[in-house]
Amino acid sequence: MVEIKKVSLPKLSYDYNALEPVISEKVMKLHHTKHHQGYVNGTNSMLGLLEKHRAGDKSVDLGSILTKLSFHMNGHLMHSLFWENMRAPRENNSPSKEVISRMKQHFGSMEQFKKEFSEAAKGVEGSGWAVLAVRDKLPLVMQVRNHQLMHIVGAKPLLVLDVWEHAYYLDYENRRGDFVDAFWKLVDWDTVEKRIKECCCGTDNECKGQ
Ligand SMILES: [Fe+2]
Repeated sequence: MVEIKKVSLPKLSYDYNALEPVISEKVMKLHHTKHHQGYVNGTNSMLGLLEKHRAGDKSVDLGSILTKLSFHMNGHLMHSLFWENMRAPRENNSPSKEVISRMKQHFGSMEQFKKEFSEAAKGVEGSGWAVLAVRDKLPLVMQVRNHQLMHIVGAKPLLVLDVWEHAYYLDYENRRGDFVDAFWKLVDWDTVEKRIKECCCGTDNECKGQ
């Protein structure tokens, strides 16, 4: 039987203090080394138990493994996307003309897209994420509960924002809205554009949103 490949904590491409003052060094360090690491450990633990079950150890509760695997693996994958979605804050943090054009084409305007995404993030009940994803070239804003609930099947994420309390509470206390509004200064639009090109553009003209 093929051994199941385990996952590992990705390195960040910036320092823990690089996102200040929007996200503090303390929050980034805790978030990456404790929370994300916890999802990596949880994923690997569940994959290990899955292997045991397949090897004949029926004392392992398969239903429980699959439930926890979905939670931890999606937690790991969502955080991996999230880190790549950010860079050092910029006051006038605008995407390229191509991204603006694409957003205008689908949402009516860049402002409308940001409004939908921000409202999704601010309105997540409990713990979760706001996600801009594309399915069959249709961009959609989704609210994801926890890490794994309410996804649209087949939708590829372009931009994700963690609104679990661990992402902002030490910096913003209960003011999640302030965190969401400040997040726009951090968005690495180059990553978003790269993901658009990878998933949605069959031709150069499509990449330009024409
Ligand atoms: Fe998180």
